[in-house]
Amino acid sequence: MVALAIIGGTGLTSLKTLEITNREIIPTPFGEPSGPVTHGELCGKKVVFIPRHGYGHIIPPHKINYRANIWALKEVGADKVLAVAAVGGISANLKPGALVIPDQIIDYTWSRVNTYFEESLTQVTHIDFTTPYCSELRDLLIKICKKEKIDCTYAGTYGATQGPRLETAAEINRMERDGCHVVGMTGMPEAALAREMGLCYAACAVVANRAAGRGEGNITMDDIESNLNLGLDKVRTLLEHIIPLV
Ligand code: HPA
Repeated sequence: MVALAIIGGTGLTSLKTLEITNREIIPTPFGEPSGPVTHGELCGKKVVFIPRHGYGHIIPPHKINYRANIWALKEVGADKVLAVAAVGGISANLKPGALVIPDQIIDYTWSRVNTYFEESLTQVTHIDFTTPYCSELRDLLIKICKKEKIDCTYAGTYGATQGPRLETAAEINRMERDGCHVVGMTGMPEAALAREMGLCYAACAVVANRAAGRGEGNITMDDIESNLNLGLDKVRTLLEHIIPLV
């Protein structure tokens, strides 16, 4: 039984107490996932990991095979999925290095394959997506942040943009008016596909930069990377505490 699947970036394979056992290539009816699934163990619990952008961080957000990734995690026996994702902070209080456990999504992506329910159907299926993230896993994340005093914002709306370019300042203004607190490029269709597969999926968003027009000057990749590392330290602590509990 796999306790938790983690979708994230390469930095996360270096959890101090995670023992990596093997890597497994999982073929899927939808093509290749972003990379082999890494199997590991932490405190006697089985954990699997898939790097959303590939092990060399080479797959851009709009080219990720979201269907294959979610399918592969289901295939190896995961029922809970924690997605770790870099975001830009739209709200003034969400500075680089901050963590957010979002509770809502607005989807601005387009032309991505966003469902399993489109071919060989015996009936049309519409999943309920009123609350896009699994409350059981969100509650657990929040409980651990409180107990371990991990600085984190416990709710927020994730605006999913198409990328790979960053947004214009006007787009961010519009997203703020819509009610978005953070902006990222990978939250959708990942969350919806997980719901279609019946997986309990929650996200931990790491603020890598102030969103376009919210900080000083332009957003550079160097800034994003160095800020991300600040937040990932907190994510590692969170993971080390959550895995024994799931
Ligand atoms: N916009 C979209 N995606 C992102 C950002 C951003 O500002 N930062 C990190 N991922």
